[in-house]
Amino acid sequence: MCGIVGYVGPKNATPILLDGLARLEYRGYDSAGIAVVSAAGDLEVRKAAGKLQNLRTALAVAEPAGQVGIGHTRWATHGRPSDGNAHPHVDCGGDVTVVHNGIIENYAELRDELIATGHHFASETDTEVLAHLIEDALASGAPSLAEATRRSLRRVTGSYAIVAVSKRDPGHIVGARLNGPLIVGLGEGENFIASDIPAILRHTREVVVLDEGEVADVTSTAVTLTDLDGREFTRAPMHVEWDLEAAEKGGYPHYFVKEIHEQPHAVRRALLGRVSEGASGPSLRLAELDRLVASGALDGVRRIAILGCGTSVHAGMLGKYAIERWARIPVEVSIASEYRYADPIVGPDTLCVAITQSGETADTLAATRLARELGAPVIAVTNIVGSAITRVADAVLYLQAGPEISVTATKTFVTTTTTLYLLALWLGQRNGALAEAEARAALAALVAVPGQMERVLATTAAASATFDTMASLLAKSQSCMFIGRGAGFPLALEGALKLKEISYVHAEAYPAGELKHGPIALLDADVPLVAMAPASKTYEKVISNVQEVRARDAKVIAIATEGDTNIARHADATLSIPRMPELLAPLLGIIPLQLLSYEVALRRGCNIDQPRNLAKSVTVE
Ligand code: G6P
Repeated sequence: MCGIVGYVGPKNATPILLDGLARLEYRGYDSAGIAVVSAAGDLEVRKAAGKLQNLRTALAVAEPAGQVGIGHTRWATHGRPSDGNAHPHVDCGGDVTVVHNGIIENYAELRDELIATGHHFASETDTEVLAHLIEDALASGAPSLAEATRRSLRRVTGSYAIVAVSKRDPGHIVGARLNGPLIVGLGEGENFIASDIPAILRHTREVVVLDEGEVADVTSTAVTLTDLDGREFTRAPMHVEWDLEAAEKGGYPHYFVKEIHEQPHAVRRALLGRVSEGASGPSLRLAELDRLVASGALDGVRRIAILGCGTSVHAGMLGKYAIERWARIPVEVSIASEYRYADPIVGPDTLCVAITQSGETADTLAATRLARELGAPVIAVTNIVGSAITRVADAVLYLQAGPEISVTATKTFVTTTTTLYLLALWLGQRNGALAEAEARAALAALVAVPGQMERVLATTAAASATFDTMASLLAKSQSCMFIGRGAGFPLALEGALKLKEISYVHAEAYPAGELKHGPIALLDADVPLVAMAPASKTYEKVISNVQEVRARDAKVIAIATEGDTNIARHADATLSIPRMPELLAPLLGIIPLQLLSYEVALRRGCNIDQPRNLAKSVTVE
């Protein structure tokens, strides 16, 4: 999410850090900062909210110079974008400074403990606890910055890539990683550290990739790798062949496919800090809703209105099924542009859940403002900290998906769905509609989703021949139909939307049972059907609908559950996903559909990351 870069060597660090940060600009900015140890041994920190240009302007007045430094671009997850919350963060004495990408889950306890022992905090961030922990570790005898960092990190839970420097151990940069990317770049008499390869590619192509729980102590001439307990090991560097543009895309040809592959990590992040493992199984806490609960605004809620546009509506439809099933509260899902002018029946008994990954969609903002004016409490679900929707809402659930650069939504679809499922479980636990055992089982299934997504990515790649046949079939079609029932219907809608958005093949989605009431008239040998047929209570019904279609000579592509030996008799080609509870299956089923639309778009030579006529955030009504 955030970008990190560090330098140690004979040159002036500042221009190298600024160049590295500029190379990370594609990841999005809300603030940036650098810290440099000057020749006199002082730690000089400069930071500014907003784009990198704001930091450059601040530096123009007095640019720090030194041979060791770290830099950071922030993409906020906790704490609003501001000068104070920008990284690097420093300890009380101004001796230690830290940049961080990720979330420190137990920061509130650590912060209370540090304040009680006399530390002063200057920001609202979770990151700042690390600077104070390292300060304490150095004060209590840690022999080096590396050892102080290891001691501090042993107390931290969460996910992080962190980099620290200290004027008390000059000449060293210490980096560590747990569920956040971090690499060391090897130069001649100089070394680098970064969250992403593009930041250092101008200087070196020899890179050591850190793994989870590993620490690198980097000087201009040496890199010492250890685990969190200080046990040393070595790792051979890898040679990076990519050019800069490919490096920004992590070696993938397009952001769209890169972001498809980031989905397991994005879902892990959406669960982070909300679902925790305990002795009796996983438990759920949505601390973001504490204030809303305390205000009493939820006490009178009898129904829920979900508002959104495009992909957000499809995730909202899955959210409706989950809320109605687990919390037994009636839910209406509305397309925001319709809701506004529909004279909606809404008041304090209606909880409005406004979904917009960008946080800026004009229709969703207008519809949400209307609901709020009529007395509805509002929970916003968005990926962008500080976006417009957060100012309309009483509470915000952030997706924590990281920047999504391709115009077409991928990881924001799965993280919105995951977040709504958490909200559904939370509501069900709160109003007593959901039994403890069912809540734990659902949470355990959600926690298993990222691992299963990784399996789907691997098996879809392995099924490349089948995949090729399907993609070629769809690429030469003028039109195709997607069907599904239950949770399979929003999945069909989202699959069809991906295909039309990026490949411009006309694709319609229908509830499978509705086919015979009209759309079936469109089907013939030239209109393929994509059927959502994972294991579910309506599986047999979907198969009957598929048979009706096959009788009209249409070719059938199926998304089914692994081990389904029946499906081959009904479909011309099948992509399988692991067995999952019916509500959760769309989180896996969407992956082959996204990859299929990608392959079709490639074959048709489309502009995949910026499809014609579409924009990432639509700020006009
Ligand atoms: C645009 C995008 C869609 C997106 C929709 C809603 O139309 O092209 O991919 O689903 O806006 O965006 P939001 O940011 O409100 O979720």
